[in-house]
Amino acid sequence: MVEWYLANIGLSRPNEFINAASAITSIAEDWEMSEVFVKVGKLSDFSEGKLKKVQVAGEEAVVANISGKIYAMTATCTHRGGPLDEGELDGTTVICPWHGGQFDVTTGKVVSPPPMKDEVAFDVQIEGSDVLLKKR
Ligand code: FES
Repeated sequence: MVEWYLANIGLSRPNEFINAASAITSIAEDWEMSEVFVKVGKLSDFSEGKLKKVQVAGEEAVVANISGKIYAMTATCTHRGGPLDEGELDGTTVICPWHGGQFDVTTGKVVSPPPMKDEVAFDVQIEGSDVLLKKR
């Protein structure tokens, strides 16, 4: 029965089916990350001047409320994996708690080493009181 099904969808071995299913899942996740805004909370969940970690379609983002405007970028430091949500927010700069690397949360760009690689920023959409993010 399994062989008949696989043959009818153009596959001859179970491993090909698993690989194809895995590829489809990966494509769906990429599409979800790149094409769709995901709700991550209410505006009231993000206190002004504070950092907060959220989950966006299986990825972690750090959200900053700067003078009432919401910004977000990936939450794991590109240097050695420090938790950026546990760092400090100074203006638009997020300072990593582990080695002091700095990123601009509005763009994800490195402001000060040791990190050499930028974070990925998220586009932010506000719908009513909901905060939604989409990876750039
Ligand atoms: S882990 Fe962030 S600066 Fe090193």
